Amino acid sequence: HTSADIQVKLLGWYDRHARRLPWRAPPGAALQDPYRVWLSEIMLQQTTVATVGPYYQGFLARWPDVDALAAAPLDQVLTAWAGLGYYARARNLHRCAQVVSEDLQGVFPDNEADLLKLPGIGAYTAAAVAAIAFGRRAVVVDGNVERVVARLFAVETPLPAAKAELKALTDTITPGRRAGDFAQAMMDLGATVCLPRQPKCLLCPLETHCRGRAAGSAADLPRRLPK
Ligand code: ADE
Repeated sequence: HTSADIQVKLLGWYDRHARRLPWRAPPGAALQDPYRVWLSEIMLQQTTVATVGPYYQGFLARWPDVDALAAAPLDQVLTAWAGLGYYARARNLHRCAQVVSEDLQGVFPDNEADLLKLPGIGAYTAAAVAAIAFGRRAVVVDGNVERVVARLFAVETPLPAAKAELKALTDTITPGRRAGDFAQAMMDLGATVCLPRQPKCLLCPLETHCRGRAAGSAADLPRRLPK
């Protein structure tokens, strides 16, 4: 079955090639602290992995858990955030910490639907936290994943119209086990192999499954509506 084969190949590749990022447990490790997963995923929205690293470490050293962050004065959180941009994210981060600490006894919800109700947590973050911190099967789609999936299935619909189609296709290949590793493997594949302009198809564990590769169109996908 194709989806099962894609999962096995991608997870095997991740076991060998996962990027060691500060917020990440090694592949196959036990589930991760939801606070750390949530903090990193909020920081990673619209900010690069390289920039986030030191900020993530700094926040964690200063506020090691959600109760500590909730108790911090907002102005200190905003100052520590300076340089990451989009201050609304920092305000929502602090509000979310307060809701979890004060209303939920410091325990993050363990499912997508309840995570979505929290300040600053949208569809992407809810799915990422559910999968990475709780091992839930969730469809995690960011820009890297959209590119990988558009190529894998040779999707010709341009973005942004293609978003729903790309999410549905991601759903068809998302496994019930190792959902967090699978999501991060897709992100890593997009960040290191399935590159926007010059994809390294010869290094790709999914090369034989890739319809874009077969059609010779991989590097041109996803299509985008002209601005
Ligand atoms: N971008 C957003 N979340 C990420 C993660 N968990 N790993 C790598 N890149 C990411």
